[in-house]
Amino acid sequence: MRASLAIAALLFSAAAQADRTAQDASARFPGVKALIGSIEGASVDAAGRFYAVDEQRFVDLQTGAVLFDTQAAGLPNTTFLAASRALRNGHFLVGDAGDHKVYEVVPGYKGKPRVRFQSDKWLQPNDITLSANGKRQYFSGMRWSEYQGDAWYSVGKGPLTQISNETTRPGVTLKRINGIELSGDGRRLFATSAHNEIINGGQKPQSAQVYSLDLDAAGRPVKGAKWRMVIDLYEAVGKEAALKSGLDPDGMRLDSKGIMYSALYGHAAVLAWDTNGQQGKKVELIHLPTIQSPTNLEMGGKDGRTLVVVGICKKQNPQEQDKACVDMIRVPNAGRAITDLRKR
Ligand SMILES: *[C@@H]1O[C@H](CO)[C@@H](O)[C@H](O)[C@H]1NC(C)=O
Ligand SMILES: *[C@@H]1O[C@H](CO)[C@@H](O)[C@H](O)[C@H]1NC(C)=O
Repeated sequence: MRASLAIAALLFSAAAQADRTAQDASARFPGVKALIGSIEGASVDAAGRFYAVDEQRFVDLQTGAVLFDTQAAGLPNTTFLAASRALRNGHFLVGDAGDHKVYEVVPGYKGKPRVRFQSDKWLQPNDITLSANGKRQYFSGMRWSEYQGDAWYSVGKGPLTQISNETTRPGVTLKRINGIELSGDGRRLFATSAHNEIINGGQKPQSAQVYSLDLDAAGRPVKGAKWRMVIDLYEAVGKEAALKSGLDPDGMRLDSKGIMYSALYGHAAVLAWDTNGQQGKKVELIHLPTIQSPTNLEMGGKDGRTLVVVGICKKQNPQEQDKACVDMIRVPNAGRAITDLRKR
């Protein structure tokens, strides 16, 4: 009796800690072959199916079906798709970093999509996060070589409004902003900030953090609120290893219990960390088997607990052309986005 209880307790704690191991998911998501090396903008729909974009197309990762082809739709060749998010009506928001627009895409519709947001003041947009009902939208963007970033929001049908880059530390602003994500209760916005330094004449990412900003009940930044650092990613990964590769955080997504998964573009890894509490806490660094440069990730599948990571494949030699790869990790909790999409 005692022994079996002890074994049960052991099994339970193992399940609770759920060792997260990544595996090659190319057989499960053969649609990845339809995308080129600039793959990013992973998203999930209410059924748990996965999608991603490359520069010109929005693709179903299960089948490779192209659901939106910017060239076929007659959009300019400056188009550069970077983000996608499922809406409750079965449509998708797809972000165009090149033309500074966000489209509402009806899968399979061949004409020009409706432009939902656009601004000449936008640096990109690079990524998007939505509130539980999809009616509040938050956008990130950056200019890599100038260390600059911007974050914007729109609530209800209100205008695009830029969010200040000031942090609680005087004189410190958010730098390159890439990953953006909203807490499950919609009251905290998270954004990455990364900084390059010039080393031997070339730029190298040398520091990166995630900051959070308090939002009011309407989803707007609380008056006077500033970004507060919640995790220093270089410290969390280990400074020496982090400096060697440069982390360059890209997309990040929360699960339904406040665990964040951050794609570390420079580090061939995903950092799982806990956003509950005042300071973020490292949970686990997950190395990727086939991806060298993860750009984005999302949780889905039947139970919402399959974390799919997309990015540039590992190479045999550096001259090889960039190709799109997909890895997957079984995680303990369902993703926030799919949990929200499944609420009625
Ligand atoms: C993009 O389109 C413009 C005209 O619309 C053309 O002049 C230019 O050569 C095109 N560039 C590429 C790379 O296809
Ligand atoms: C922060 O915002 C100010 C005001 O909009 C802007 O001038 C500055 O370039 C921004 N800093 C970065 C690093 O993006």
